[in-house]
Amino acid sequence: MSSAASLLVTPYDRKVRLDSFPASDIELAVVIPTLNERDNIVPLVAALDAALANINAELIFVDDWSTDGTPEVIAELARQRSDIRLLRRCGRRGLASAAIEGMLSTTAPVVALIDADMQHDEGILPEMVAAVSSGKLDVAIGSRYHSSGSCGTWSQKRLKTSRFATVLAQAAIGSDVEDPLSGFFVMRQDLIVDVAPRLKGQGFKILMDILSSAPRRLRVAEFPYVFRTRVAGRSKLSPGVAVSYLRLLVAAGLRRLLSVRLISFSIVGSIGLIVNLALLRLLLPSLGFAAAQAVAVAVAIGSNFLLNNAITYRDCRLRGWRLFTGALSFYGICGMGAFANVGVGSVVFWSDHRWWLAGAAGALVGTGWNFLVSSIFTWRRPLASAVS
Ligand code: GDD
Ligand code: MN
Repeated sequence: MSSAASLLVTPYDRKVRLDSFPASDIELAVVIPTLNERDNIVPLVAALDAALANINAELIFVDDWSTDGTPEVIAELARQRSDIRLLRRCGRRGLASAAIEGMLSTTAPVVALIDADMQHDEGILPEMVAAVSSGKLDVAIGSRYHSSGSCGTWSQKRLKTSRFATVLAQAAIGSDVEDPLSGFFVMRQDLIVDVAPRLKGQGFKILMDILSSAPRRLRVAEFPYVFRTRVAGRSKLSPGVAVSYLRLLVAAGLRRLLSVRLISFSIVGSIGLIVNLALLRLLLPSLGFAAAQAVAVAVAIGSNFLLNNAITYRDCRLRGWRLFTGALSFYGICGMGAFANVGVGSVVFWSDHRWWLAGAAGALVGTGWNFLVSSIFTWRRPLASAVS
């Protein structure tokens, strides 16, 4: 019978037998989202078998209720091979969420995501898995745009659209990964567990979501491959999916733009206005308007700088010498902002004559300038995340 060592003692003094079961020695789980891919399943499994001959892997298909017989083909294989599993999702759709749920459904230390339609080159998986298993990388990305990678036989039009979407994605998440929209990558399983609650899980942009939601800077590298032409079945990446992706991206970008930072910056700006007016009132009797206002503005800009440094940009706070150079640049930028404010205000006033409209337009442009430019030059936020 079982010895003490082969028992797992659970709360309430219940014991789970461990001895008569082989321990799991699965090194890799390959997650394969499928939607109507019947004719691709068998060729894909054969290709993965060949590529992963030296890796102890399980294949997890995540099917969103395909109606072409896909889950039946997978189930048939799964009955004959214990390393193949089928997760059927009912009443739900989406490549990203299917990928996330597949990756969460395993306890293998490393997970791979690959399309079912053979467009991703499974031949580079061993190299990617080795880089992640060895602890060198958090994520190994199969890349169409890195080094010798390419999109294969894509038309110029599709190539241009994809490049455009890629540049937008890079800007939106402030990343220099060359193929942030890749649907082909290998990563540590504990990482997906870490980030899963933060993922949006919508559409096709799973990797981008993971990269931008990670709690720490990830060690990533790209592995070039040539995107193959689809032989069987049809792509689900319709123009509709592409348009909704772009819409999402613009919305995400705008949301970031109008983010917590801008709100914080604006509140600090309002405090600056109060400081300015209070000082002006205090100094007016002794200094006269021009001198009193000059002192008041200088103090208000200085206090705005310190408040923004302490609150708005607390995650990248300037200290020591950089606090000094930062203050100088902030004064310079706000000076130019004031010029822009007066300039734009005057132009509006000449053409419209409503003083409050002209004043507001000037203030808006001036504040926008101060916010964006100081974010980039004073606090050295990269343009894309200037606003994150
Ligand atoms: N479960 C599930 N649910 N799977 C889906 C869904 C869905 O709603 N939509 C698509 N899939 C599966 C497809 O069956 C296929 O296995 C894979 O996801 C990719 O779908 P395709 O329609 O073939 O996409 P693609 O070839 O245009 O784009 C792919 O490659 C790009 C480059 O790596 C995707 O992986 C993109 O995310 C990726 O950018
Ligand atoms: Mn495809």
